[in-house]
Amino acid sequence: MKIATIQFSPVFGNSEKNIEKLKPFLEKAKEADLIVLPELANSGYNFKNKNEVFELSEEPENSAFVGFLTGFCKQNNSAIVTGFNERDRSKIYNSALLIDKTGIIGKYRKIHLFMNEKEYFEPGNLMPRPFELNGAKIGMLVCFDWMFPEIYRTLALQGTDIICQPSNLVLPGKAQQAIPVHAMINRVFIVLANRTGTEQNLTFTGNSLIAGPDGEIIAQASASEEEVLIAGVDISLSKNKMITPKNHAFNDRRPELYY
Ligand code: ACM
Repeated sequence: MKIATIQFSPVFGNSEKNIEKLKPFLEKAKEADLIVLPELANSGYNFKNKNEVFELSEEPENSAFVGFLTGFCKQNNSAIVTGFNERDRSKIYNSALLIDKTGIIGKYRKIHLFMNEKEYFEPGNLMPRPFELNGAKIGMLVCFDWMFPEIYRTLALQGTDIICQPSNLVLPGKAQQAIPVHAMINRVFIVLANRTGTEQNLTFTGNSLIAGPDGEIIAQASASEEEVLIAGVDISLSKNKMITPKNHAFNDRRPELYY
């Protein structure tokens, strides 16, 4: 299976411009079966206030951004995970959508909100779970979820093979250090799709990466360039949870003794 991540700097507040901006990157990534885009790829990140977030949010069912990505998947027989500023009636969520040629086939709403996001978004209300894609189980997390090992375990215990993590990281290097470790201790693949660029006082840290079940970094982007990473992965490796002939990553746990 081929996975790609598009590291780019979304245009703040302009979903249509982001469609245009993504076209050449998607063209480069089109050989991939699964392409992962950054957090809030339709709207940008650094909002003035909750009203602005609301104005820039979109209902997935009526979003030209989602329509465009679905059209791309149809044409190229691929799937995309994108970060999405999601409106659901009066509520707004910092979401990730799994899209294929039929439209949205999976959704996750960011559970662990970062800094001002707590004033703008509702915390996620959907249990993290994997979605089936051509025999692979695809899970989604968003950015600051990287601090919470429980959520990786929750996806891994449900048989997730690949965790896609749209991000807008600002704390230099920390998630990039943690994510290969989450991949290793759960024996899964993790795609960290970070962004670049600056919005007012925030600079995003790039260094998107694809990590494998041994904790290895299979591919990594630069800190500040917009670029596409593509890597072939063998998902049978994420189904093998043996650490040694006598140690199993999940069966050796002793949950009766800890939280
Ligand atoms: C973040 O969660 N966007 C840092």
